[in-house]
Amino acid sequence: MGCELGKLASRDNRNGARKFEEPTPPQVQVDPRLPLTAKQKYNMMASWKGISRAMESTGVCMFLKLFEEHSELLLLFEKFKSLKSKEDQATSLELAEHATTVMSTLDEGIKGLDDLDTFFEYLNQVGASHRRIPGFKAEYFWRIEKPFLEAVETTLGDRYTSNVENIYKITIKFIIETLVKGFENANAT
Ligand code: HEM
Repeated sequence: MGCELGKLASRDNRNGARKFEEPTPPQVQVDPRLPLTAKQKYNMMASWKGISRAMESTGVCMFLKLFEEHSELLLLFEKFKSLKSKEDQATSLELAEHATTVMSTLDEGIKGLDDLDTFFEYLNQVGASHRRIPGFKAEYFWRIEKPFLEAVETTLGDRYTSNVENIYKITIKFIIETLVKGFENANAT
């Protein structure tokens, strides 16, 4: 009986008078606020699994690179501003702990690419929380962009193809823009 109905449906289709809705193809729509295509978002989330298995080492690597290029930023960190040498920084428990906290924030952000309302709310709030840091400026967020990409490259190795690099570049820019907006909007109130 089910088969009969199926035949009827297909005959209707041929005549152009469709009684049954055709199944729609799987939707590949993304939120228009997302600067990634559906495929790029999928690849980003798949690639991030490689980073989420190495959060601490990637985060420490990122901060070492940040302080290597911008040693003045070290002074903002009460807990480890006295760690002048790279060796001291690399073996500091406090720095590792902070690096993991920041990486967990990025982890939440990247997992939130599927739900941009939550993504914006969460990262705006993290951006705003930097208002409590004496001397912090919104532009400092951009200083982590290059160290982040270099640390990801170190962790992913061969998996960091030019396509993957491009997707990470778009994603970190999007995350930093959101942190900056959160910081600035908190500033305005
Ligand atoms: C991807 C960008 C960043 C994210 C996701 C991020 C995230 C966070 C989070 C979640 C905290 C709170 C930690 C806590 O309450 O224990 C924090 C604190 C802090 N962040 Fe950031 N941050 C970012 C970039 C930066 C940059 C570039 C600087 C450099 C100046 C910075 C400076 C600080 C400082 C000084 C603190 C306070 C640390 C403390 O109280 O011990 N952040 N950050």
